[in-house]
Amino acid sequence: MIAIETNSLSKVYTSSFGKNKVRALNELNLTINKGTIFGLLGPNGAGKTTLVKLLLQIIFPTFGTAKLMGEDIGNYELKKRIGYLPEDHKYPPYLTGGEVLKFFGRLSGLNGTTLDKRIDELLELVNLSKWKKTKVKSYSKGMTQRLGLAQSLINDPELIFLDEPTDGVDPIGRKEIRDILLELKGRSKTIFLNSHLLSEVELITDRVGILNKGKLLREGTVKELTERKEEYKLILNDELPELNKFADDNLIITKNHDGSYSVKVDDIRTMNILVDKLRGENILIKEIVLQKNTLEEMFISLINREEKGGKE
Ligand SMILES: Nc1ncnc2c1ncn2[C@@H]1O[C@H](COP(=O)(O)OP(=O)(O)O)[C@@H](O)[C@H]1O
Ligand SMILES: [Mg+2]
Repeated sequence: MIAIETNSLSKVYTSSFGKNKVRALNELNLTINKGTIFGLLGPNGAGKTTLVKLLLQIIFPTFGTAKLMGEDIGNYELKKRIGYLPEDHKYPPYLTGGEVLKFFGRLSGLNGTTLDKRIDELLELVNLSKWKKTKVKSYSKGMTQRLGLAQSLINDPELIFLDEPTDGVDPIGRKEIRDILLELKGRSKTIFLNSHLLSEVELITDRVGILNKGKLLREGTVKELTERKEEYKLILNDELPELNKFADDNLIITKNHDGSYSVKVDDIRTMNILVDKLRGENILIKEIVLQKNTLEEMFISLINREEKGGKE
């Protein structure tokens, strides 16, 4: 089942009487399955918030269409099934955590004991029960974000949009937020997460999209995006001077400082032929490790390539 589907979704902001145009989102095609956590990564200004606002109909597309849970985004009944934590949200400082949730609960049409019960459950979920009667002005950034999470869940939504939920939160607070998101995933919610913090996204998302200047550069699982298909680290039992005699056009071997070897091959078959040759000479292989980029390395090289206008 599909939770989010966009078709050539595009947004051009026009300002100063049409003089300045910003192409904030450029023909975005994206499909996100229900019950998954999707992380949209990209530097500031990439177009992440624009996408969320488009999907929620806070702003309208210049071109293209989108569906949420199979319904056209224009269907306002959809809002009942959606939760949203905006970027840099602020609550009136004089309200307590409990009052903030009451306010948003009433906006969602809840009241009475149903709402009271829901507020207590949510405060429990985000670990703020003790702070229910404390004014939000004395909340830390992490607590404010956790309260925001509770607010976005007040209507028990199927699909939740979180725009930079861990921005400005310390590492312990971020871990708490990640744990809550995993808990929600366990309850089969779909979570769409915007973030410029790579390490966050890597830890909990099922799939990741990389957005830069309004264009989706890559989409896939963290594993898919970080695998360098062609490079292996080879560790032998004995350190040999070099393995160059085994190299050919399809196989490049270099010795590393730590005594291991880097082997670059076109595919796994070539790697296996090398293993056969080494074993043919009774060379003992201790370890063969597929080399991976971190998401951060992949992200930086992708964005750099884009800046240079180069092809992948
Ligand atoms: N209301 C607006 N009017 C004009 N330009 C905007 C507006 N909102 C965002 N932009 C521009 O659109 C681009 C994408 O912004 P945004 O979606 O906020 O990116 P992100 O959330 O990835 O940081 C940026 O260049 C930003 O300056
Ligand atoms: Mg943003």
